[in-house]
Amino acid sequence: MKDRIRALLKEKNAIMLAHNYQPPEIQDMADMCGDSLELSIRAGETDAKVIVFCGVHFMAETASIISPDKTVLLPRLDAGCPMADMIDAESLAAKKASLPPMPVVTYVNSTAEVKALSTICCTSANVIQVVNSLPEKEMLLTPDRNLAMYATSKTDKKIHVWDGYCPIHDLLTAIDVEKAKADHPNALFTAHPECRPEVLALADSVESTSGMLRFAKASEHKEFIIGTEIGLLHAIQKQNPDKIFYAASQKMVCLDMKRIGLSDVARCLENMSGQVKVPEKIRIPALAAVEKMIELSK
Ligand code: 13P
Ligand code: SF4
Repeated sequence: MKDRIRALLKEKNAIMLAHNYQPPEIQDMADMCGDSLELSIRAGETDAKVIVFCGVHFMAETASIISPDKTVLLPRLDAGCPMADMIDAESLAAKKASLPPMPVVTYVNSTAEVKALSTICCTSANVIQVVNSLPEKEMLLTPDRNLAMYATSKTDKKIHVWDGYCPIHDLLTAIDVEKAKADHPNALFTAHPECRPEVLALADSVESTSGMLRFAKASEHKEFIIGTEIGLLHAIQKQNPDKIFYAASQKMVCLDMKRIGLSDVARCLENMSGQVKVPEKIRIPALAAVEKMIELSK
């Protein structure tokens, strides 16, 4: 299967990108693994004609927004994001109408339609930088309430919160973390900003998925409790064979991130199926929001 995928990638002039939560065999096969920000930047820089995006739907959409001339394939079109589905264009338009005029910061975990109605995008890696880059003192941050509350705690801006959340990160409780800390008293605890405020209050560092990889590599500590989706454990253990990593909770499994298998990658390349394309009417305003973010982060 791996040989077949390698041959197909070459034949179709394709690059395979994978999010850090993907199953181990997908991460190991990919040309590049990363967090949402790194993958968006890479999608815009590649010379390949085809991008096979191993992640969820909004990520493939973002690649298509940035690279409209490339064919973007999502090997499983049913890989969605429950948090992205907690907001749509209509509900955002209604919320905007109910507030005084203010910028809208939208987490990339959102549909293209929602990005198109936003001032600027952000990811878990750059939310503070994005919020601080805006001249306005007041803004709406969608759709993740935990990310919005985290940003509020780190800036002096007034942030209106959209009541969405990641069902996987929001599951992690302070009790789970306290138990993990009691079981592993020498471990540092790193948490994703999609976690609840009381969980983040217990963290030694708050990081995006790739931020966690950098944090573990740079630290002199040997043990870490990882407060994010458990797919990251594969990458973090592989990059740090001499260190020990524990899941903050075995409950943190995103089934959408686990849908893609190697046979799906081979099939979509063979048939050029699973294409994700954003209509120009939505793509142009969505691109403006994504590009503003990428410019800030480069
Ligand atoms: P990052 O890799 O950007 O931290 O994303 C977390 C996430 O939940 C993606 O779905
Ligand atoms: Fe969406 Fe959460 Fe899954 Fe990421 S981990 S894709 S935010 S449901």
